[in-house]
Amino acid sequence: MPSLFPLSPQAVALLVAASVVVLARGDNNGLGRKPMMGWSTWCTDGPCFQDVCTEDETYSVVAAMNSSGLQAAGWEWISYDDCWSADTRDANGNLQADPVRFPSGMPAMVDFIHSQGFKVQIYTSLGFSTCSRSGRPLPLPGSYGHYEQDAAWFASIGADGIKGDWCNTSAGGVTLDVQNSTDAMAAAINATGHPMWFNFHCSFNGSSGFAPWCAADGNSGRVDHDHQDYWNKTGYGTLQIIGDNGQTGALAGAQPGGGTWWPDLDFLMTGGQGCPDNSTAHCPGQSDEEYKTEFTFWALTRSILLFATDPRNLTAVMREALFNSELLAVNGADCALPGATHVATAPCASTLDCEIWSTAPYCDAYLYVAVGNFGDLPATMALDFSVLPGLGASTRAVVRDLWAHQDLGTFTGSFPIDGEIAPHGTRAFQLRPIA
Ligand code: GLA
Repeated sequence: MPSLFPLSPQAVALLVAASVVVLARGDNNGLGRKPMMGWSTWCTDGPCFQDVCTEDETYSVVAAMNSSGLQAAGWEWISYDDCWSADTRDANGNLQADPVRFPSGMPAMVDFIHSQGFKVQIYTSLGFSTCSRSGRPLPLPGSYGHYEQDAAWFASIGADGIKGDWCNTSAGGVTLDVQNSTDAMAAAINATGHPMWFNFHCSFNGSSGFAPWCAADGNSGRVDHDHQDYWNKTGYGTLQIIGDNGQTGALAGAQPGGGTWWPDLDFLMTGGQGCPDNSTAHCPGQSDEEYKTEFTFWALTRSILLFATDPRNLTAVMREALFNSELLAVNGADCALPGATHVATAPCASTLDCEIWSTAPYCDAYLYVAVGNFGDLPATMALDFSVLPGLGASTRAVVRDLWAHQDLGTFTGSFPIDGEIAPHGTRAFQLRPIA
Protein backbone atom coordinates (compact mmCIF):
# COMPACT_ATOMS: atom_id res chain seq x y z
CA MET A 1 0.00 0.00 0.00
CA PRO A 2 1.42 3.42 -0.86
CA SER A 3 2.11 5.24 2.37
CA LEU A 4 2.53 8.84 3.37
CA PHE A 5 5.10 7.79 5.90
CA PRO A 6 8.73 7.57 4.83
CA LEU A 7 9.32 3.93 5.77
CA SER A 8 9.75 1.14 3.27
CA PRO A 9 8.01 -2.18 4.03
CA GLN A 10 11.49 -3.60 4.74
CA ALA A 11 12.20 -0.85 7.27
CA VAL A 12 8.85 -1.44 8.93
CA ALA A 13 9.61 -5.18 9.14
CA LEU A 14 12.98 -4.42 10.73
CA LEU A 15 11.39 -2.08 13.25
CA VAL A 16 8.79 -4.71 14.13
CA ALA A 17 11.49 -7.34 14.60
CA ALA A 18 13.58 -4.97 16.71
CA SER A 19 10.64 -4.03 18.89
CA VAL A 20 9.87 -7.69 19.54
CA VAL A 21 13.42 -8.24 20.74
CA VAL A 22 13.21 -5.25 23.04
CA LEU A 23 9.74 -6.17 24.29
CA ALA A 24 11.01 -9.45 25.63
CA ARG A 25 13.74 -7.64 27.51
CA GLY A 26 11.65 -4.77 28.86
CA ASP A 27 10.57 -6.19 32.20
CA ASN A 28 11.86 -9.73 32.12
CA ASN A 29 8.54 -11.43 32.36
CA GLY A 30 7.43 -11.80 28.74
CA LEU A 31 4.01 -10.36 29.60
CA GLY A 32 2.36 -7.17 28.54
CA ARG A 33 2.47 -7.48 24.79
CA LYS A 34 -0.87 -5.70 24.85
CA PRO A 35 -2.96 -4.07 27.59
CA MET A 36 -4.83 -6.53 29.83
CA MET A 37 -8.59 -6.86 29.33
CA GLY A 38 -10.89 -8.23 31.98
CA TRP A 39 -13.36 -7.78 34.78
CA SER A 40 -12.66 -6.46 38.27
CA THR A 41 -14.72 -7.20 41.35
CA TRP A 42 -14.67 -3.51 42.30
CA CYS A 43 -18.30 -2.41 41.74
CA THR A 44 -20.26 -5.63 41.29
CA ASP A 45 -22.51 -6.83 44.13
CA GLY A 46 -21.63 -3.83 46.29
CA PRO A 47 -20.74 -0.18 45.89
CA CYS A 48 -17.27 0.61 44.63
CA PHE A 49 -15.12 1.18 47.74
CA GLN A 50 -17.06 -1.48 49.62
CA ASP A 51 -16.03 -4.18 47.23
CA VAL A 52 -17.92 -7.39 47.91
CA CYS A 53 -16.48 -10.45 46.26
CA THR A 54 -17.34 -14.04 47.05
CA GLU A 55 -16.82 -17.51 45.78
CA ASP A 56 -20.35 -17.61 44.37
CA GLU A 57 -19.83 -14.31 42.60
CA THR A 58 -16.71 -15.73 40.98
CA TYR A 59 -18.57 -18.81 39.72
CA SER A 60 -21.47 -16.83 38.27
CA VAL A 61 -19.31 -14.10 36.73
CA VAL A 62 -16.98 -16.61 35.10
CA ALA A 63 -19.98 -18.46 33.67
CA ALA A 64 -21.50 -15.23 32.36
CA MET A 65 -18.24 -14.02 30.84
CA ASN A 66 -18.05 -17.30 29.00
CA SER A 67 -21.68 -17.67 27.87
CA SER A 68 -22.06 -14.03 26.83
CA GLY A 69 -19.04 -14.23 24.54
CA LEU A 70 -17.04 -11.71 26.56
CA GLN A 71 -14.24 -14.21 27.09
CA ALA A 72 -14.08 -14.99 23.39
CA ALA A 73 -13.99 -11.25 22.69
CA GLY A 74 -10.76 -11.03 24.71
CA TRP A 75 -11.99 -10.24 28.25
CA GLU A 76 -9.74 -12.87 29.79
CA TRP A 77 -8.76 -11.55 33.25
CA ILE A 78 -10.60 -11.98 36.53
CA SER A 79 -9.19 -9.39 38.89
CA TYR A 80 -9.83 -9.58 42.63
CA ASP A 81 -9.56 -6.12 44.12
CA ASP A 82 -9.52 -5.11 47.80
CA CYS A 83 -12.20 -7.61 48.82
CA TRP A 84 -10.74 -11.07 49.05
CA SER A 85 -8.38 -11.25 51.99
CA ALA A 86 -8.86 -12.06 55.65
CA ASP A 87 -7.83 -9.51 58.25
CA THR A 88 -5.02 -11.73 59.53
CA ARG A 89 -2.24 -13.69 57.88
CA ASP A 90 -2.18 -17.47 58.34
CA ALA A 91 0.06 -19.40 60.75
CA ASN A 92 2.90 -19.26 58.22
CA GLY A 93 2.56 -15.53 57.78
CA ASN A 94 1.01 -15.84 54.35
CA LEU A 95 -1.92 -13.83 53.09
CA GLN A 96 -5.14 -15.82 53.13
CA ALA A 97 -8.68 -15.41 51.86
CA ASP A 98 -11.58 -14.20 53.97
CA PRO A 99 -13.00 -17.54 55.19
CA VAL A 100 -16.60 -16.36 54.93
CA ARG A 101 -16.30 -14.98 51.42
CA PHE A 102 -14.04 -17.76 50.13
CA PRO A 103 -14.50 -20.93 52.18
CA SER A 104 -12.59 -22.92 49.54
CA GLY A 105 -9.57 -20.62 49.79
CA MET A 106 -7.74 -18.68 47.14
CA PRO A 107 -5.67 -21.55 45.65
CA ALA A 108 -8.93 -23.32 44.77
CA MET A 109 -10.32 -20.15 43.19
CA VAL A 110 -7.23 -19.73 41.05
CA ASP A 111 -7.48 -23.35 39.92
CA PHE A 112 -11.16 -22.94 39.10
CA ILE A 113 -10.58 -19.73 37.13
CA HIS A 114 -7.73 -21.35 35.20
CA SER A 115 -9.89 -24.38 34.46
CA GLN A 116 -12.32 -22.04 32.73
CA GLY A 117 -9.57 -20.52 30.60
CA PHE A 118 -9.21 -17.18 32.40
CA LYS A 119 -6.24 -15.49 34.05
CA VAL A 120 -6.27 -14.20 37.63
CA GLN A 121 -4.98 -10.97 39.09
CA ILE A 122 -5.01 -10.54 42.88
CA TYR A 123 -4.81 -7.37 44.94
CA THR A 124 -2.43 -6.36 47.67
CA SER A 125 -1.24 -3.02 48.99
CA LEU A 126 2.48 -2.30 49.05
CA GLY A 127 1.82 -0.36 52.26
CA PHE A 128 1.03 -1.44 55.81
CA SER A 129 -2.62 -2.24 55.06
CA THR A 130 -5.04 -2.12 52.14
CA CYS A 131 -6.95 0.96 51.06
CA SER A 132 -10.58 0.37 51.91
CA ARG A 133 -11.00 -3.04 53.66
CA SER A 134 -14.28 -3.24 51.68
CA GLY A 135 -16.55 -2.26 54.52
CA ARG A 136 -15.14 -4.71 57.06
CA PRO A 137 -14.18 -3.57 60.55
CA LEU A 138 -10.46 -4.35 60.75
CA PRO A 139 -7.62 -3.28 58.47
CA LEU A 140 -6.55 -5.91 55.96
CA PRO A 141 -2.84 -6.73 55.90
CA GLY A 142 -0.64 -4.97 53.36
CA SER A 143 2.50 -6.48 51.89
CA TYR A 144 5.08 -4.12 53.42
CA GLY A 145 7.66 -6.24 55.23
CA HIS A 146 6.52 -9.30 53.27
CA TYR A 147 7.26 -8.48 49.64
CA GLU A 148 9.31 -11.65 49.00
CA GLN A 149 6.95 -13.86 50.99
CA ASP A 150 3.83 -12.48 49.32
CA ALA A 151 5.28 -12.61 45.82
CA ALA A 152 6.30 -16.22 46.47
CA TRP A 153 2.83 -17.06 47.81
CA PHE A 154 1.06 -15.45 44.83
CA ALA A 155 3.40 -17.41 42.54
CA SER A 156 2.83 -20.65 44.45
CA ILE A 157 -0.94 -20.48 43.99
CA GLY A 158 -0.52 -19.73 40.29
CA ALA A 159 -1.64 -16.11 40.17
CA ASP A 160 -1.07 -14.49 36.78
CA GLY A 161 -0.98 -10.92 38.02
CA ILE A 162 -0.63 -8.75 41.10
CA LYS A 163 -2.25 -5.37 41.63
CA GLY A 164 0.11 -3.58 44.00
CA ASP A 165 -1.92 -0.74 45.44
CA TRP A 166 -0.33 2.22 47.21
CA CYS A 167 -2.18 2.86 50.46
CA ASN A 168 -1.44 3.30 54.14
CA THR A 169 2.20 3.84 53.42
CA SER A 170 3.12 5.58 56.69
CA ALA A 171 3.02 4.00 60.13
CA GLY A 172 5.04 4.04 63.34
CA GLY A 173 7.24 6.85 62.08
CA VAL A 174 8.09 5.01 58.83
CA THR A 175 7.07 6.56 55.52
CA LEU A 176 7.57 4.40 52.48
CA ASP A 177 8.92 5.66 49.18
CA VAL A 178 6.85 4.63 46.17
CA GLN A 179 9.77 3.93 43.86
CA ASN A 180 11.80 1.97 46.44
CA SER A 181 8.80 -0.11 47.42
CA THR A 182 7.69 -0.78 43.88
CA ASP A 183 11.24 -1.64 42.80
CA ALA A 184 11.47 -4.07 45.73
CA MET A 185 8.15 -5.76 44.93
CA ALA A 186 9.08 -5.98 41.24
CA ALA A 187 12.37 -7.66 42.19
CA ALA A 188 10.52 -10.05 44.51
CA ILE A 189 8.10 -10.96 41.71
CA ASN A 190 10.92 -11.53 39.23
CA ALA A 191 12.76 -13.67 41.79
CA THR A 192 9.86 -16.14 41.93
CA GLY A 193 10.57 -17.19 38.35
CA HIS A 194 6.80 -17.33 37.78
CA PRO A 195 5.76 -14.60 35.32
CA MET A 196 3.14 -12.34 36.86
CA TRP A 197 1.72 -9.14 35.44
CA PHE A 198 2.58 -6.36 37.89
CA ASN A 199 0.19 -3.40 37.98
CA PHE A 200 1.04 -0.61 40.41
CA HIS A 201 0.71 3.09 41.12
CA CYS A 202 3.01 5.15 38.99
CA SER A 203 1.93 8.74 39.00
CA PHE A 204 -1.25 10.66 39.59
CA ASN A 205 -1.63 12.58 36.37
CA GLY A 206 -0.40 11.57 32.99
CA SER A 207 0.24 15.13 31.90
CA SER A 208 2.90 15.57 34.57
CA GLY A 209 5.05 12.91 33.00
CA PHE A 210 6.01 9.38 33.87
CA ALA A 211 9.00 8.36 35.90
CA PRO A 212 11.33 5.99 34.01
CA TRP A 213 11.11 3.40 36.78
CA CYS A 214 7.44 2.86 36.00
CA ALA A 215 8.20 1.19 32.70
CA ALA A 216 11.03 -0.82 34.21
CA ASP A 217 9.06 -2.29 37.12
CA GLY A 218 6.13 -4.06 35.54
CA ASN A 219 3.40 -4.13 32.97
CA SER A 220 0.96 -1.35 33.78
CA GLY A 221 0.48 1.46 36.20
CA ARG A 222 -2.21 3.75 37.51
CA VAL A 223 -1.66 7.23 36.20
CA ASP A 224 -4.51 9.10 37.83
CA HIS A 225 -7.03 9.21 40.65
CA ASP A 226 -9.60 6.49 41.11
CA HIS A 227 -12.23 6.79 38.40
CA GLN A 228 -15.73 7.03 39.82
CA ASP A 229 -18.89 6.65 37.81
CA TYR A 230 -19.44 10.34 37.16
CA TRP A 231 -19.09 12.36 34.00
CA ASN A 232 -17.90 15.46 35.82
CA LYS A 233 -16.42 15.25 39.30
CA THR A 234 -13.18 16.97 40.26
CA GLY A 235 -10.38 14.42 40.07
CA TYR A 236 -12.57 11.41 39.47
CA GLY A 237 -14.98 11.96 36.57
CA THR A 238 -14.60 10.73 33.02
CA LEU A 239 -14.11 14.34 31.91
CA GLN A 240 -11.29 14.91 34.40
CA ILE A 241 -9.48 11.63 33.75
CA ILE A 242 -9.56 12.27 30.02
CA GLY A 243 -8.42 15.85 30.60
CA ASP A 244 -5.48 14.74 32.72
CA ASN A 245 -4.14 12.22 30.26
CA GLY A 246 -3.87 14.04 26.98
CA GLN A 247 -0.14 13.48 26.78
CA THR A 248 0.02 9.74 27.32
CA GLY A 249 1.53 9.57 23.82
CA ALA A 250 4.71 10.66 25.58
CA LEU A 251 4.71 7.27 27.28
CA ALA A 252 6.21 5.78 24.17
CA GLY A 253 9.34 7.81 24.76
CA ALA A 254 9.41 6.94 28.45
CA GLN A 255 9.79 3.26 27.78
CA PRO A 256 13.22 1.78 27.36
CA GLY A 257 12.62 0.57 23.83
CA GLY A 258 9.18 -0.03 24.66
CA GLY A 259 5.77 -1.38 24.70
CA THR A 260 5.33 -3.69 27.66
CA TRP A 261 4.12 -1.11 30.15
CA TRP A 262 0.68 0.34 29.71
CA PRO A 263 -1.15 3.19 31.38
CA ASP A 264 -4.06 2.32 33.65
CA LEU A 265 -6.74 5.01 33.58
CA ASP A 266 -8.57 2.93 36.20
CA PHE A 267 -11.76 0.93 36.01
CA LEU A 268 -14.21 1.27 33.18
CA MET A 269 -17.75 1.69 34.42
CA THR A 270 -19.32 1.29 31.01
CA GLY A 271 -22.97 1.40 31.82
CA GLY A 272 -23.16 -1.47 34.21
CA GLN A 273 -25.88 -2.28 36.67
CA GLY A 274 -25.63 -4.14 39.93
CA CYS A 275 -23.81 -1.50 41.90
CA PRO A 276 -25.99 0.08 44.57
CA ASP A 277 -25.79 3.82 45.13
CA ASN A 278 -23.80 5.25 47.94
CA SER A 279 -22.78 8.79 48.50
CA THR A 280 -19.31 8.73 47.00
CA ALA A 281 -19.35 6.08 44.35
CA HIS A 282 -22.32 4.83 42.45
CA CYS A 283 -23.25 3.27 39.17
CA PRO A 284 -24.71 3.57 36.69
CA GLY A 285 -23.98 7.27 36.94
CA GLN A 286 -23.42 8.39 33.36
CA SER A 287 -25.39 8.57 30.13
CA ASP A 288 -24.81 6.06 27.36
CA GLU A 289 -23.01 8.75 25.34
CA GLU A 290 -20.71 9.39 28.31
CA TYR A 291 -19.96 5.70 28.69
CA LYS A 292 -19.08 5.49 25.01
CA THR A 293 -16.78 8.48 25.45
CA GLU A 294 -15.15 6.78 28.45
CA PHE A 295 -14.62 3.60 26.45
CA THR A 296 -13.27 5.38 23.36
CA PHE A 297 -10.62 7.35 25.22
CA TRP A 298 -9.55 4.44 27.42
CA ALA A 299 -9.17 2.26 24.30
CA LEU A 300 -7.29 4.84 22.24
CA THR A 301 -4.94 5.62 25.11
CA ARG A 302 -4.13 1.94 25.20
CA SER A 303 -5.02 1.84 28.87
CA ILE A 304 -5.46 -1.54 30.42
CA LEU A 305 -9.20 -2.29 30.30
CA LEU A 306 -10.80 -3.68 33.44
CA PHE A 307 -14.54 -3.08 33.62
CA ALA A 308 -15.90 -3.02 37.14
CA THR A 309 -19.63 -3.54 36.74
CA ASP A 310 -21.74 -6.65 36.43
CA PRO A 311 -21.13 -8.95 33.45
CA ARG A 312 -24.13 -11.08 34.48
CA ASN A 313 -26.47 -8.19 33.60
CA LEU A 314 -25.11 -6.69 30.40
CA THR A 315 -26.86 -3.47 29.44
CA ALA A 316 -27.15 -2.43 25.80
CA VAL A 317 -24.32 0.09 26.10
CA MET A 318 -22.11 -2.47 27.84
CA ARG A 319 -22.65 -4.79 24.90
CA GLU A 320 -22.00 -2.04 22.38
CA ALA A 321 -18.75 -1.06 24.08
CA LEU A 322 -17.33 -4.35 25.35
CA PHE A 323 -17.95 -6.06 22.01
CA ASN A 324 -16.67 -3.16 19.90
CA SER A 325 -14.06 -5.25 18.14
CA GLU A 326 -12.67 -2.30 16.22
CA LEU A 327 -11.88 -0.22 19.29
CA LEU A 328 -10.56 -3.31 21.04
CA ALA A 329 -8.30 -3.92 18.05
CA VAL A 330 -6.91 -0.39 18.42
CA ASN A 331 -6.30 -1.01 22.12
CA GLY A 332 -4.67 -4.38 21.56
CA ALA A 333 -2.91 -3.85 18.25
CA ASP A 334 0.46 -5.42 17.80
CA CYS A 335 3.20 -3.02 17.00
CA ALA A 336 1.62 0.04 18.54
CA LEU A 337 2.97 2.11 21.36
CA PRO A 338 1.06 3.14 24.46
CA GLY A 339 -0.72 6.42 24.70
CA ALA A 340 -2.70 8.86 22.64
CA THR A 341 -2.20 12.58 22.35
CA HIS A 342 -4.54 15.48 22.56
CA VAL A 343 -3.79 17.25 19.31
CA ALA A 344 -6.34 20.06 19.11
CA THR A 345 -9.29 21.78 20.66
CA ALA A 346 -11.56 22.65 17.79
CA PRO A 347 -14.53 24.93 17.55
CA CYS A 348 -17.73 22.96 16.98
CA ALA A 349 -20.69 24.72 15.43
CA SER A 350 -22.38 25.42 18.72
CA THR A 351 -19.61 25.18 21.27
CA LEU A 352 -15.84 25.52 21.55
CA ASP A 353 -15.48 22.24 23.32
CA CYS A 354 -14.60 19.60 20.75
CA GLU A 355 -11.41 17.81 21.72
CA ILE A 356 -9.41 15.87 19.15
CA TRP A 357 -7.07 13.10 20.20
CA SER A 358 -4.97 10.93 17.95
CA THR A 359 -2.71 7.96 18.18
CA ALA A 360 0.66 8.08 16.50
CA PRO A 361 0.50 6.25 13.16
CA TYR A 362 0.36 2.51 13.77
CA CYS A 363 2.62 0.13 11.87
CA ASP A 364 -0.04 -0.05 9.20
CA ALA A 365 0.34 3.76 8.91
CA TYR A 366 -3.27 4.22 9.96
CA LEU A 367 -4.29 6.83 12.49
CA TYR A 368 -6.99 6.43 15.11
CA VAL A 369 -8.73 9.62 16.08
CA ALA A 370 -11.34 10.51 18.69
CA VAL A 371 -13.42 13.66 18.49
CA GLY A 372 -15.16 14.33 21.79
CA ASN A 373 -17.84 16.95 22.34
CA PHE A 374 -17.26 17.99 25.93
CA GLY A 375 -19.80 20.77 25.73
CA ASP A 376 -23.45 20.61 26.70
CA LEU A 377 -24.96 21.22 23.25
CA PRO A 378 -24.95 19.03 20.13
CA ALA A 379 -21.98 19.84 17.88
CA THR A 380 -21.11 19.64 14.21
CA MET A 381 -17.61 20.05 12.89
CA ALA A 382 -15.13 19.11 10.18
CA LEU A 383 -12.02 17.17 11.16
CA ASP A 384 -9.06 19.11 9.76
CA PHE A 385 -6.37 16.62 8.72
CA SER A 386 -3.59 19.13 9.24
CA VAL A 387 -3.95 18.89 13.06
CA LEU A 388 -3.16 15.16 12.88
CA PRO A 389 0.36 13.70 13.04
CA GLY A 390 1.82 13.21 9.56
CA LEU A 391 -1.29 14.34 7.69
CA GLY A 392 -1.88 17.63 5.89
CA ALA A 393 -4.18 19.70 3.75
CA SER A 394 -3.50 17.56 0.68
CA THR A 395 -3.73 14.15 2.37
CA ARG A 396 -6.34 11.80 0.98
CA ALA A 397 -7.65 9.28 3.46
CA VAL A 398 -10.37 6.68 3.73
CA VAL A 399 -12.31 7.40 6.90
CA ARG A 400 -13.90 4.59 8.88
CA ASP A 401 -16.34 5.05 11.77
CA LEU A 402 -15.30 2.80 14.67
CA TRP A 403 -18.68 2.85 16.40
CA ALA A 404 -20.89 2.55 13.28
CA HIS A 405 -18.44 -0.01 11.82
CA GLN A 406 -18.47 1.38 8.30
CA ASP A 407 -16.26 3.20 5.83
CA LEU A 408 -17.55 6.70 5.29
CA GLY A 409 -15.67 7.54 2.08
CA THR A 410 -12.43 9.13 0.89
CA PHE A 411 -11.72 12.72 1.86
CA THR A 412 -8.94 15.19 1.11
CA GLY A 413 -7.62 17.56 3.76
CA SER A 414 -10.63 17.39 6.02
CA PHE A 415 -13.64 15.30 6.83
CA PRO A 416 -17.02 16.86 7.56
CA ILE A 417 -18.24 14.66 10.41
CA ASP A 418 -21.65 13.41 9.42
CA GLY A 419 -24.50 14.32 11.74
CA GLU A 420 -24.24 15.83 15.17
CA ILE A 421 -21.95 14.78 17.98
CA ALA A 422 -24.14 14.45 21.05
CA PRO A 423 -23.28 16.44 24.19
CA HIS A 424 -20.51 14.54 26.04
CA GLY A 425 -20.44 12.10 23.12
CA THR A 426 -17.46 11.03 21.05
CA ARG A 427 -16.96 9.88 17.50
CA ALA A 428 -14.02 7.61 16.74
CA PHE A 429 -12.42 7.15 13.35
CA GLN A 430 -9.73 5.21 11.57
CA LEU A 431 -7.92 7.21 8.88
CA ARG A 432 -6.23 5.22 6.13
CA PRO A 433 -4.03 7.58 4.11
CA ILE A 434 -3.85 6.78 0.38
CA ALA A 435 -1.62 8.20 -2.32
C1 GLA B 1 -7.37 2.45 45.91
C2 GLA B 1 -7.20 2.06 44.45
C3 GLA B 1 -8.50 1.51 43.91
C4 GLA B 1 -8.96 0.31 44.74
C5 GLA B 1 -9.01 0.70 46.20
C6 GLA B 1 -9.20 -0.52 47.07
O1 GLA B 1 -8.24 3.51 46.08
O2 GLA B 1 -6.78 3.17 43.71
O3 GLA B 1 -8.35 1.12 42.55
O4 GLA B 1 -8.06 -0.74 44.54
O5 GLA B 1 -7.83 1.34 46.64
O6 GLA B 1 -9.49 -0.19 48.36
